[in-house]
Amino acid sequence: MRRPLIPGNWKMNLDRAAAVRLAARIASRAGSLEDVDLAVFPPFVHIDAVRQAVAGSRLAYGAQNVYFEPDGAFTGEISAAMLVDLGCRYVILGHSERRHVLGETDEDVNKKLLATLGTDLVPIVCVGELLAEREAGQTAAVIRRQLDGSLANVSQQQIGRTVIAYEPVWAIGTGKVATPSQAEQAHMELRKILADRYNTESAQAVRILYGGSVKAANAAELLAQPNVDGGLVGGASLQADEFLGIVAGLKR
Ligand code: PGA
Repeated sequence: MRRPLIPGNWKMNLDRAAAVRLAARIASRAGSLEDVDLAVFPPFVHIDAVRQAVAGSRLAYGAQNVYFEPDGAFTGEISAAMLVDLGCRYVILGHSERRHVLGETDEDVNKKLLATLGTDLVPIVCVGELLAEREAGQTAAVIRRQLDGSLANVSQQQIGRTVIAYEPVWAIGTGKVATPSQAEQAHMELRKILADRYNTESAQAVRILYGGSVKAANAAELLAQPNVDGGLVGGASLQADEFLGIVAGLKR
């Protein structure tokens, strides 16, 4: 059984007071949600404040990015050990905005993943096709290339604690959500790629999340798909009620 995971990616939003308020509101209602892993992803500068706001609750938190070097002269970057020191449990890697706005490559994602797997952090590796790629029938090839590139030199043991997120770029922040069957098909494809790289048992154990315009109103149908193990939520995670409404849609 794969335990559902619902991460809320706050992106570059909220000031410190608003971040603390939102985290505290979600944390206060997370206690009764024992069959799901919940986490929020504040901007780096708010992580410590969020840490204090959720202390003692079931709400975990993580970072939206990390650098692959352990320390040194890398102005502006943050290491995996620094995130561990702040109590982060997760880190998002290769989000489409990092790939397409900030030019991250599969090779960058791979280096970050290997650095992350050297710590106790749980990585969430994002892949997903552009609209033009979907329309050209290239979805399967694109996600295979991204996943293979991102997972180079990742062992069978390490894949067991890696989370994959399928986030079609055309669905992120657009309000255009993938249909449940489009999501399920891509997730099945990703699980097949994992089975080819490792084996069926390992592939079955990996959590694969769907991301892209998930909200309370469409979550239940998406999360009901057999290969959809949770949702990576952007915009809708900025409001406690909406975020918790998505959690309420989980198959149970
Ligand atoms: P969205 O973002 O829910 O606002 O579409 C999803 C994501 O970027 O992870």
